[in-house]
Order: sequence, then C-alpha cells, then structure tokens
Amino acid sequence: MAEYVLDTPAVRGFVEGVRREIAAADSPADACERIRPSFAELLARDDWLPRQFQEPAPESGMGGGIGQWSLYRADDLSLFSLVVPPDAQTPVHDHLAWGLVGLYRGTQDEEIYVRGADGGLELSERRALGTGDFYVLIPPRDDIHRVRTTSPETSVSIHLLTNDTGCVWRHAYDPDTGAERDFRSGYVNVDCDPGPSR
Ligand SMILES: [Fe+2]
Repeated sequence: MAEYVLDTPAVRGFVEGVRREIAAADSPADACERIRPSFAELLARDDWLPRQFQEPAPESGMGGGIGQWSLYRADDLSLFSLVVPPDAQTPVHDHLAWGLVGLYRGTQDEEIYVRGADGGLELSERRALGTGDFYVLIPPRDDIHRVRTTSPETSVSIHLLTNDTGCVWRHAYDPDTGAERDFRSGYVNVDCDPGPSR
C-alpha cells in the first residue's frame, strides 16, 4: 500500500529520492544523513505545499486545532504536515519510527523527555526551532516529545517518518506521572480504517 495523497511531481520526486537513499544506506543514521540535503531543500522551497495542507483542523486527534495532513503514506514511510496554531501544543507523544522533522513556517519550542529511574518522565532538552530548522529523530533517543507554536502565526512542520505515523497506534504521555495511553493521531484528510468499498 502506498498512496500519494498530494500527488505532484515535487512530492513524487522527493519520496522516490528518499527511497533510493534508504535502500543505499547501511543504518537509519546513515539514511538520515543522506536525506538531509533534499529535506533541507524541501523546507526551503515555498512552491510545493498547497494552502489547504497548512490549515489548522478544529476537530483532530491531536486536539487544540492541530492538523496532521497526509502528503504521502505507506506502511514503511510517511510524509505529512503538522499544523499547530499559535500557543497550541501537542500532547507529549512518541513516534515509534526514525526520520526527519523540520519547520516550514513559523517557530516552535520542542521539549524532549526521557524515562527516569522512577518510571516518570523527565524533561531532557528544550529546543527552539526556526523556519528551515530540522532534526533527526532515531528512537529511543528523542522519540518522546511535545511541540508548541511560539510564533504569532500558525506553525507548519514537515515530518518524514518510517511508518504510517498518523495511523499506527503509538503512545501519549502524562508528563507529570509518566502514565502512557494508546494514541492514534489520525490524519485530517485520510481515513485510517476505510470501510468496505461500495
Ligand atoms: Fe512528534
């Protein structure tokens, strides 16, 4: 199963390039290193992501008007935009897959958590991200985080992760107690469990 939800030459060219680099890489870290140039170029270009994929979503799995828009999805790779209105923040969550995440519009603060010895969550790092900044995410390092928009305008980040992130069951966390719950964010524009075709 692979679906170009945003079926354009720009998205196809990017995804095909990513798949070539993953096939040639000998580790997730090596793959991320190989993908960096094309990911940086994608974040720098302002002509490929239609306005609708940069819009908040009033009713979404993330809450707070946060919109997660699928651009491409397969079981082993997904590309999506995450739209976070001013002052809104995601739940603390994990991804269960490696990949790259970068900022396309606005600014965000990212808080990264680790499991402490007592089973609770400890804040390990806080990063401020500006437009064009991106980071590599390789679980278990950096996999549990929360992002919050700090710009007066809505922020848009681009996620490239090696699972169908919006549709897999992963975890959301209570940062105070460390308690986790099953979490599936979904996508605004894709049904994770389509019913039988009519
Ligand atoms: Fe995330």
